[in-house]
Amino acid sequence: MADSKASLSIDGNVIADLPILKGSAGNDVIDIRTLGSAGYFTYDPGFLATASCESAITFIDGDKGVLQHRGYPIDSLAKQADYLEVCYILLNGDAPTKAQYDEFTNTITNHTMVHEKLVHFFHGFLPDAHPMAMLCGVVGALSSFYHSDLDIHEADQRMRSAHRLIAKMPTIAAMAYKYSIGQPFVYPSNELTYAENFLHMLFSVPAEKYVVSPTVARAMDRIFTLHADHEQNASTSTVRLAGSSGANPYACIAAGVASLWGPAHGGANEACLTMLEEIGSLDRVDEFVAKAKDKADPFRLMGFGHRVYKNFDPRATVMRETCHEVLSELGIKDPLLDVAMALEKVALEDPYFIEKKLYPNVDFYSGIILKAIGIPTNMFTVIFAMSRTVGWIAHWDEMLGQPGQKIGRPRQKYTGEIDRKFIPLSDR
Ligand code: SDX
Repeated sequence: MADSKASLSIDGNVIADLPILKGSAGNDVIDIRTLGSAGYFTYDPGFLATASCESAITFIDGDKGVLQHRGYPIDSLAKQADYLEVCYILLNGDAPTKAQYDEFTNTITNHTMVHEKLVHFFHGFLPDAHPMAMLCGVVGALSSFYHSDLDIHEADQRMRSAHRLIAKMPTIAAMAYKYSIGQPFVYPSNELTYAENFLHMLFSVPAEKYVVSPTVARAMDRIFTLHADHEQNASTSTVRLAGSSGANPYACIAAGVASLWGPAHGGANEACLTMLEEIGSLDRVDEFVAKAKDKADPFRLMGFGHRVYKNFDPRATVMRETCHEVLSELGIKDPLLDVAMALEKVALEDPYFIEKKLYPNVDFYSGIILKAIGIPTNMFTVIFAMSRTVGWIAHWDEMLGQPGQKIGRPRQKYTGEIDRKFIPLSDR
C-alpha cells in the first residue's frame, strides 16, 4: 500500500513516479519495480540499500543495536527461552503455549535420525575434509531422500521439511565431526534436550558413558539462539534466491551452508579464533591493529564490523556475558580471552574503529566459548550453520507462502564489448 511517492527526474524531466511503501518498523522503501519500463535499472552491488523482499520474521535496527524475532527482543529470547522455542517462534510467528511447545519438541525429537544410507556419503570424503565441505555435501544429498513426493506449495509439507532440517542438522553436523576425528558416529538419544543431544553426538564414545555438563548445554543452546536468524544476510538471501526457482528445500539449505562458509560471513568465527591464535599474546595486539588499519594490508580483524550494525551487535553483548559465565563456571583461564578483551578495548577506543563503527560482532565471542566447550575451530561455522537452518527455512517458507512469489532475477550494468564482428578461426 503506497503512502506517498517519489518522483524521479532526469535533466528536469520526470521519468517515473515511484510509490513509497511503509513497513511496520524501519526504513520506508521506494518501489522501483516500474523503473525498467522507463528504461533504467537501479545499481546497488552488495545490496547496501536494497530491500529484496517483504518479511515479518526478523527486524534489525543497526543504529540502535536492535534485533527482534517476530517482535521479541533477542536478549529476552536468549535469557528466557530455549532454542526450540525460538525455532517455533520463527516458524509460526508467536510464542508457543506449553502444549504447542511440547508437541513441537516431540516432533523435532522424532526426526533426529537420518536414513542409514546417508552414512555412506561421508565415506567419500578425505579424512582431512573440512566439516563445512561435508555439511554442504551431505545436506545437499538429503534432497535425494525427500524429493519425489514433496510439494513445496503445500504449507504442511513445507513445515515438515522445516522440522526434518532442524532435527537432522545436529545429527549430520556431529557426524561430520566424528568422521573428521575417526570416531564412530553416535546416534541421537530421545531422552536428551536439543543441545544435550548435540553434545552427546559430538563427544560420547561407545567405550564410556558421557555426562553432559548443564553449563555447557546451556551455553550451547544460547549460541544456537543467538545465531538463529538475522534478516536478509548473505546466506539467507542465497536460500531465498535458490528457493525462488522452486528448487528442493534441502538443496536450498545446502546453498545457504555454502554461502555462510565465507570468512566475511559465518566463517568469521573460525577466522576470528585463528586470528587470536596468530596474535598469540597481548604484546602483539598493537602490531595486528596497525595491520587492520593499513589500507595496503588486506588483513582485517575478524569478528569486527558489520554491514548493518553501525553501533553494537546486541548478540555480541549477550555472547560476551555468556563467554565470561562459561569460562568462570568451567574454571578456564584462556589467554586468548585476554587477547580478545585487549582487541575489544581497542575497537571501543581507537578513533579508526570508532569512525568506521567497527564493533565486535556475534562471531567475536562465540569462538572463545566454543573453544572453551572443547569444540575444534573447524567446527565453529558448522555450529553457526546448524543454528541458522531455522532462519533459512523460515524465510524459504515465508517466501513460498507469499502470493505472486516470483523467481529472483537481478539485472546488471553491462560494461563489456558490443556488436563485434566474429572472424572464423580459419581466418584469424
Ligand atoms: C556475520 O549480514 C549479517 O547479518 C551477517 C551476520 C548474520 O548473523 O548473518 O551478522 C553474521 O557475517 C557477521 C560478520 C562476520 N564477518 C567478520 O567479522 C569479518 C570481518 N568484517 C568484515 O569483513 C566487514 O566488516 C563485514 C563484511 C562484516 C562488513 O563489510 P561491509 O559492510 O561491506 O563494510 P566494508 O567492507 O565496506 O568496510 C567499511 C570500512 C572499510 O574501510 P574503508 O574502505 O571505508 O576505508 O571498514 C573497514 C573497511 O576496510 N573494515 C574493517 C573491518 N571491517 C570493515 N577494517 C578492519 N577490520 C575489519 N574487520
